Amino acid sequence: MNVITRRGDIVRHKSEALALGIFEGRALGGAAAAVDRATRGAIRRLILQKDFTGLFLEVAILYPRGLSASRLILVGLGPLSAFTPHRATLAAAAVARRARDLRVGSLATVAFGAGAGGLSVDDAARATAEGAVLGAYRFTAYRTQSSHPPLRRLEIVERDPAVARAVAEPAARGRAIAEGTCLARDLASTPGQDLVPEQLAERARELFRGTPTAVEVFDVRKLERLGMGALLAVGRGSVHPPRFVALDRPPRGAASRRTVVLIGKGITFDTGGISLKPRENMGKMKYDMSGAAAVLGVFAALREMELPFRVVGLLAVAENMPGGRALKPGDIVRAMDGTTIEVTNTDAEGRLVLADALCYARRFEPEAVVDLATLTGAVSVALGNLAAGLFTDDDTLAAELTEASNSTGERIWRLPLWDDYAPEMRGEVADLVNSSGAREGGAILGAVFLKHFARGMRWAHLDIASTAWSPVVRPHEGRGPTGFGVRLLLEWLSRLASASRSSASSPPAPRARRAGPKARARAAASSRRSSPRPGRRSRGL
Ligand code: BES
Ligand code: MN
Ligand code: ZN
Repeated sequence: MNVITRRGDIVRHKSEALALGIFEGRALGGAAAAVDRATRGAIRRLILQKDFTGLFLEVAILYPRGLSASRLILVGLGPLSAFTPHRATLAAAAVARRARDLRVGSLATVAFGAGAGGLSVDDAARATAEGAVLGAYRFTAYRTQSSHPPLRRLEIVERDPAVARAVAEPAARGRAIAEGTCLARDLASTPGQDLVPEQLAERARELFRGTPTAVEVFDVRKLERLGMGALLAVGRGSVHPPRFVALDRPPRGAASRRTVVLIGKGITFDTGGISLKPRENMGKMKYDMSGAAAVLGVFAALREMELPFRVVGLLAVAENMPGGRALKPGDIVRAMDGTTIEVTNTDAEGRLVLADALCYARRFEPEAVVDLATLTGAVSVALGNLAAGLFTDDDTLAAELTEASNSTGERIWRLPLWDDYAPEMRGEVADLVNSSGAREGGAILGAVFLKHFARGMRWAHLDIASTAWSPVVRPHEGRGPTGFGVRLLLEWLSRLASASRSSASSPPAPRARRAGPKARARAAASSRRSSPRPGRRSRGL
């Protein structure tokens, strides 16, 4: 969608539809008051009749005289006291969804909540653009007859020249954030047939061609050389070999040593393998690469943003299929750090591919690692479909991610990661098993397995199996893939960036300062040396 900002008078602005947000129980102000005057009280009459009260997300459509727009769409913003940027996003999404259903191609509005709403112009503009793009989204790649023409254009019209200027940058940012989310949705909606591991890797290449983000794709030979035995094992049953994708985005300006690593589970289709899944709803398992899709969505949005630190994205990509060469229950695989894993259930494949990704992440000496994975059905049993599971031993990281989540409305809820659970994942014949066979606490056990490979790193795991697919239509997301995590991670990254900006005068973290390129190379070499060789038993659990 095109997002355009203009200086002008909303009353005189020509468009197919004009959208306004209305607070519950408040006198009309700003643009709403101006439109009400120009339409001789059309909005006030509606409110007096109680046909529209400003209830949060309530929508009304009017065809009043006195405007240059063909219709007026009102959306309730709820009580002023409960208003937040997230509510502005949802209101903009509700309007865009309705406009799209009315076959509106071009929508005009003001930044929601900037005036009376008390939001900063920045928040209001970002939320308006972000919400509109999210709400208007549909997955149409496989439709031959489109029932709806797309909503092509959003114009944010502001009367005050200074405000109009201030709106442009955050509106563009909001659009980029939402389009990153929509990219993740598109990828997760794409059938497994059309997004096998090579194709997902190729998409990653295409997305960042000609941008500062470097993309490396590892094929099977390279995976063998690296010793990524767990990822290779998961991909073995498929005619489409596994891939590992490393995205590397340098910091802006001065060569900061700080690195954040984002890891995504990229199972392009999960049949369960030899431990075959039941037939019901197996088609949904095309979304088992939602973690990888979210990481790509984040990097796509970052093309239009700057960060003062390096961001690395790691995608562990494979298709989990049964077959003559497939991994079998009882097989023992060796992860990149030498840990041996008895595969007790080939359907617990996500933790296998992530094990190798976590081992690989270590070489970046990251200040934080976050993985996103549709890891367990059990997380939905625990949290329903409204929250993802958050697992970390680091309270600060938990707080950072929770704050970002509170701001974007993508809910996460912390679940335990106590070592007391670890014995359940210890093996009889190998160091670990990939599934304990217990049905209880499945999301926790998956996380505890991953923890073995993340030890020593500042790490959080998000189990997004519950939230990466919405069973219902909400204003900002339809049924199906949601792109969960893209906005959350972007918010977290930008908060990290502003935290580091505000502490720019204080000395950087000791490790960041000490480590010059040589020191880093030494550290990397010694961490390679100290990583267990095949055959050598590793510590942990
Ligand atoms: N991709 C699934 C998790 C999943 C299940 C996501 C249902 C969404 C809906 C994952 O690979 C898986 O199969 N996990 C197993 C783990 C078990 C075998 C320990 C599960 O959840 O049953
Ligand atoms: Mn599985
Ligand atoms: Zn899976």
